[in-house]
Amino acid sequence: MQVPVESQPTSPRIVASLDRICRSFASDQRVLSDVSFDLRSGESTAIVGPSGSGKSTLLGILGLLDEPTSGDYAVNGLHTAGLRDRERTRLRRERIAFVFQAFHLVPHLTAVENVAEPLRISGRSWQDRRERAAAELSRVGLPHRAWARPNVLSGGEQQRVAVARALVAAPDLLLCDEPTGNLDSRNASRVLDLILGARTRGCAVVVVTHDPSVAERCGAELVVTDGRVERRR
Ligand SMILES: Nc1ncnc2c1ncn2[C@@H]1O[C@H](COP(=O)(O)OP(=O)(O)O)[C@@H](O)[C@H]1O
Ligand SMILES: [Mg+2]
Repeated sequence: MQVPVESQPTSPRIVASLDRICRSFASDQRVLSDVSFDLRSGESTAIVGPSGSGKSTLLGILGLLDEPTSGDYAVNGLHTAGLRDRERTRLRRERIAFVFQAFHLVPHLTAVENVAEPLRISGRSWQDRRERAAAELSRVGLPHRAWARPNVLSGGEQQRVAVARALVAAPDLLLCDEPTGNLDSRNASRVLDLILGARTRGCAVVVVTHDPSVAERCGAELVVTDGRVERRR
């Protein structure tokens, strides 16, 4: 049977592509060596490996917070090596979001204001930003905490606010560094559900973790050992 072109399944879009990435620091120590892999929309990838192996350095490069010493890194097909600082910052703000172990909410802002932060550059009205942020807070189960400041929220609630903030502007790439590291197992599982839920919104999700039960839930697993990256599955 002939299948019309439009309805043929397409392989997921490549969001991030690393080609022979190396990263050295001034000390001459090579922290990443010849790293190549692709990340696709709707897929999740765990990054595991011993402490000091280069996981955070790799995440920094993926997040355009750091630049490789050599090799090519492309986001949505755009090669980042030649970009000016302003263009890199813009690409990061528009396409990439982060969730860190330590939540990093702005202490003097309420939950809804924290979630609305990434929309500030969008040129939308505060009313519109607040509505979107409130909808995102509802998705993470916290509509009743909209006006709470971080210091009155539990760790699990703070990380759910951080996930809402990460997803509110519909990023293509969600980068998480030990996102469940400060949470008990019940909250960890709930936060991971929310993070992995971003796949259905077309996000490529990356989770750096020490926890095998977290890595297991990701579709793919990369192991970093002494700056080299191998695919475990
Ligand atoms: N800015 C930096 N300057 C010098 N060395 C660094 C820098 N950032 C990381 N490193 C070194 O790179 C190695 C890998 O660090 P990192 O990526 O943080 O590992 P991981 O996240 O896997 O624990 C470590 O030896 C660390 O000391
Ligand atoms: Mg680290």
